[in-house]
Amino acid sequence: LVDKAVAAANSMHRDELLFSYKGIRYPITICSPETFKALESFEARSDDIVLAGYLKSGTNWLSQIINDLIAVSKKKTQGRESNVNDEELGEFPYLEVGDAEKYERMTKLPCPRFMVTHLRPENLPKSIFKNKVKILLLLRNPKDVATSFYHFSNGIATLPSYETWDDFFTDFMTKKLAWGCYLEYLSEWNKYIDEENIMTITYEELKENRALGVKNIAAFLGIPLTEEELQFVAERSSFQSMKKNSENTHGAFGDVFFRKGVVSDWKNIFSEDQNEKMDKAFEEHVAGTKLGKKLKY
Ligand code: A3P
Repeated sequence: LVDKAVAAANSMHRDELLFSYKGIRYPITICSPETFKALESFEARSDDIVLAGYLKSGTNWLSQIINDLIAVSKKKTQGRESNVNDEELGEFPYLEVGDAEKYERMTKLPCPRFMVTHLRPENLPKSIFKNKVKILLLLRNPKDVATSFYHFSNGIATLPSYETWDDFFTDFMTKKLAWGCYLEYLSEWNKYIDEENIMTITYEELKENRALGVKNIAAFLGIPLTEEELQFVAERSSFQSMKKNSENTHGAFGDVFFRKGVVSDWKNIFSEDQNEKMDKAFEEHVAGTKLGKKLKY
């Protein structure tokens, strides 16, 4: 899917790459208004698992961890080797990415279905909340998200590229980027923070102690783990292992998806003025909220 989208994007003008849906822009080569319309009536199952995270907050990292945990669980309950990879899912894991018929095809997938989304809660299908689907909400310091997003935009043709970081920063602080403004995303998700079916995890805490993060995620998903299984999943999800394996998982775009994998890379790119602007906006929109307090800012 990514290869096809990149090929299509290569023949398009920068200004044609994004389209608007309900006030937020998305890349036209992988999303469409028809898919968004069809998504509204998507029927979630109570044992679906959703990973929610704005782009560049580490969604590929968490996806592998969750896929591995599901695989461990299936191996125990079904007594067979299985890896919940894209082939088995048969669908690109990002919920809002793909054609409008994918939701019909997803009705035939075995339980548990795992999906990832960059969408704000109000744009997710209502059934996800009604059926109390478990949602793992992934958070990352907005300064590092912006830094990662800038490099990603210049590394992948499906998103408009930027000549300067300053131009990108200006767009990041407004609604101009794909999937909208991250600070608004955070304040929207804050409204759901008390739901019992939502667990939050930060990029930074996972970086600090991956094994503990994996253990907490497994507990939230109700997947018992032996110490050996825990170490296996944690080891496979180190930045080094994932980067090494990225040609298999992400083809030619491995280096774009697995760039540096560190905390505070923003210090290498933010100016003093941009730092102050972000601090001020964060203070205004997020800092005082429950979700803001969970962020490692
Ligand atoms: P950087 O650009 O700061 O390196 P997403 O998967 O949501 O697109 O997020 C991508 C970011 O997560 C990139 O950040 C990437 O390097 C980082 N990442 C991916 N796998 C990781 C891992 N195993 N450990 C730490 N960071 C990881």
